[in-house]
Amino acid sequence: MKKAASRGRPTLAERADRYTLYQKAVQAPDPEVKFMQRTYRRLRGRAPTSFREDFCGTAHLATHWVKGGAERTAIGVDISAEPLDWGKEHVLGIAAPSVQRRMRLVQADVLSAEVPRVDVIGAFNYSYCCFKERSVLLRYFRAAHAGLKKDGLFMCDLFGGTEAIATQADERQCDGFRYVWDQAQYNPITHEAMNHIHFRFRDGSSLERAFTYDWRLWSIPEVRELLLEAGFRSTEVWWDPIDEEHYRKTEVEEQQATWLVYLVGVK
Ligand SMILES: C[S@@+](CC[C@H](N)C(=O)[O-])C[C@H]1O[C@@H](n2cnc3c(N)ncnc32)[C@H](O)[C@@H]1O
Repeated sequence: MKKAASRGRPTLAERADRYTLYQKAVQAPDPEVKFMQRTYRRLRGRAPTSFREDFCGTAHLATHWVKGGAERTAIGVDISAEPLDWGKEHVLGIAAPSVQRRMRLVQADVLSAEVPRVDVIGAFNYSYCCFKERSVLLRYFRAAHAGLKKDGLFMCDLFGGTEAIATQADERQCDGFRYVWDQAQYNPITHEAMNHIHFRFRDGSSLERAFTYDWRLWSIPEVRELLLEAGFRSTEVWWDPIDEEHYRKTEVEEQQATWLVYLVGVK
């Protein structure tokens, strides 16, 4: 995975940590936490306190949630020990003890995790797209529904647009490295897509396929229908207006090259 320049001393890629690079290039927990608290307050008339981050990885989002208020708690659920261990050391490990005490990280499958019910469950960065069969995504949404308190809300994101199904790579410069989002394969028959993240450095070294995502690109109506089938009473779509600060609740939009939405399942 690490491509080294042939020199004696370690390359930038060899010295890099893929989770640190991912955090810098991809993660922005603040807008997600703001969206969740604003949406919950609008629909329920009070501030949410308990949060479960599904597919939490390093639990960056869950930690940010807990830092937002002394009454807040969070549970992070991920199936894999590696990102959880990284998060325990580099995210939770550097947070204040009062934050650490109000968080729990659980290594489990989100389809079967047994954890206390919460006000809000969030599944961000399109992680549920790893569930490629309708019956499995329905099982996940049922599990999320069951994992919420009676007035709980489920929130996730989704991307699409004419370029989402194109095999292409986009690059952008980050602090000290280039981030590459590589849409390597797309199968129109199944809507399955294979995407990679590469990190490239100025000394010519790189971390190729630092992360790989083997997804089904679900459509907005498919996700909404499955949320309703799973027991949610209603759903909302919030569109990223790109040039404005706040997402807007909407039912009609024009197609774009790329779009991002937040989807809300109302229990
Ligand atoms: C795209 S990463 C998302 C990380 C983080 N949520 C973020 O926003 O950056 C996907 C994560 O989902 C986890 N995952 C995949 N399948 C899972 C499952 N069935 N149950 C729980 N976690 C799962 C992986 O281990 C990985 O850490």
